[in-house]
Amino acid sequence: MIKRKNIMKIAIDSPAAAGAGTIGKALSKHYNLFYLDTGKIYRFIAFLKLNYPKKFNAKYIKKKINKLQIKDLSNKNLLSDEIGSEASLISKKKIIRKMVHSFQIKFAYNPPKKYNGSCLDGRDITYNIIPDADFKFYITANAKIRALRRYKELKALKKEVTYLEVLKSIKKRDKSDLNRKIAPLKKTKDSLLINTTNLNKRACFLKLKKIIDRKLIINGNL
Ligand code: C5P
Repeated sequence: MIKRKNIMKIAIDSPAAAGAGTIGKALSKHYNLFYLDTGKIYRFIAFLKLNYPKKFNAKYIKKKINKLQIKDLSNKNLLSDEIGSEASLISKKKIIRKMVHSFQIKFAYNPPKKYNGSCLDGRDITYNIIPDADFKFYITANAKIRALRRYKELKALKKEVTYLEVLKSIKKRDKSDLNRKIAPLKKTKDSLLINTTNLNKRACFLKLKKIIDRKLIINGNL
């Protein structure tokens, strides 16, 4: 595997709808990093399962992953709650995690040349995908706030859901992601805990930026 030298790598783990995507994108823009929302890869596989159940087997998934392009991950169909729940189920499987592993590693360690580095968010990024990341964050918020944020996002996409349905599915997903045997969501010792319950997007961005800049200055990189 090709690894670019001297690039900046940010790893973020978080439960659903805690704001990791928003903050990851903002940091990536600021530091010119390639951003990858790894949940979208599992959502993409969940989409295949729900839409092509008869074809859905290891060979088929592998073929699709090999052809997968970053732009495919911005498909709005991947955003539904149904896909999120299915993603949480299929992501428990070792064979599936193995298949998406190299896709993630490639972008983490060899982002396109125009970027100064990479920023990935997911559930196992800090300890499985980029264990040597320069910055590691565990971003969380209480379940009610997360459900409210996700509910508003889904409503903006004109999805038919109630707040309580979203809350219920977020809690179910938390339970499954935290307790599964393979690659569970966890805060590693070397990750910084950021609770966004009472932080707006701007405040959250500034908080992380301050932490990152401080280390960059100490290391003489800024
Ligand atoms: O982050 P998002 O809600 O889009 O992720 C959908 C599901 O994909 C999660 O609930 C989780 O089960 C799974 N996932 C994972 N590992 C990652 C990212 C997401 O298992 N690195």
